[in-house]
Amino acid sequence: MVSTPVNLDTLTSQLEALEAQASDQIRRADDPQALEQLRISLLGKKGGQLSSVLGAMGSLPHAQRPLLGQRANVLKKEIQGLLSEQHRQLEASALNQRLAEEAVDVSAPALYRPLGHAHPLLGTLDEIVTIFCGLGYRVVDGPEIETDHYNFSALNIPEDHPARDMQDTFYLPNGELLRTHTSPVQIRHLERHSPPVRVIAPGRVYRRDAVDATHSPIFHQVEVLAVDEGLNFGHLRGTVIQFLQAFFGELPVRFRASYFPFTEPSAEVDVQWQGRWLEVMGCGMVDPAVLEGLGLDPERWSGFAAGMGVERACMVRHGIDDIRRLFSSDLRFLRQF
Ligand code: DAH
Repeated sequence: MVSTPVNLDTLTSQLEALEAQASDQIRRADDPQALEQLRISLLGKKGGQLSSVLGAMGSLPHAQRPLLGQRANVLKKEIQGLLSEQHRQLEASALNQRLAEEAVDVSAPALYRPLGHAHPLLGTLDEIVTIFCGLGYRVVDGPEIETDHYNFSALNIPEDHPARDMQDTFYLPNGELLRTHTSPVQIRHLERHSPPVRVIAPGRVYRRDAVDATHSPIFHQVEVLAVDEGLNFGHLRGTVIQFLQAFFGELPVRFRASYFPFTEPSAEVDVQWQGRWLEVMGCGMVDPAVLEGLGLDPERWSGFAAGMGVERACMVRHGIDDIRRLFSSDLRFLRQF
């Protein structure tokens, strides 16, 4: 044990030394753990430096103890103040450092991420669907591999009709075929749904055509079908004009008498686009023979139908001169839409 006699002066100077040392050490503690270690070594109840000075106080005469106790308390408060001030500064500089590290330069040029958009053909199809849905039609579909029955016979297309020619139709080895138009969906739909019906059937169709600026062996059509009591050519005309003017704008529309085996009477429809009459769809009143084939009484039910080429509509609308551009995946072309 230390033999130096304990008196007020030695303890007081110990407190003073502790004060000087503590403020120096605290200022130099540069992380929160070091600071916590320091707090324990200075103020810890067991073995802390202040506690050992106070422990020695027991050897002082009673009258001197309160004086030293007071000084010790002042020192303790002072050390606590220094510790918490240092703690605050350490936290502030840690925060500043993180802010500096994580800073985002909002003025830096953005990364260019090109956004895709719908292909013009799909965009056209979407518009057609939207317009007909607004008129109360719903979308149905049918298979692309068809039978002779649905693609031809049920549509009143006779055995010797040129449309059945090997030149026009892709036949499969089993006698089935790739549908040459979306009209078979009329039959399939009416087999399963009794009138009144109002549907459109968009889809892909196939023909043995040589590729040129206006022909592609694969293209898209939208079939339109309405069957109800009392439908007449005026309803057909009104619907077609309504659609065409919604799609192309307020353009002149004309109907030309035509022939399709599954409609009677039949018409082809032209729009006047930039001074030229362009054919955009075929249509007509559903032929009574087609209704009869489906077991529907033509005295009670009547209907109208129309079919249009989506590529054609898209090309007219956007002034595209060659159908092959729609299938070329050339981004320089596609980005224009
Ligand atoms: N299916 C015909 C074609 O591909 C287009 C067509 C004409 C559809 C008249 C119809 C219609 O529904 O009434 O050329």
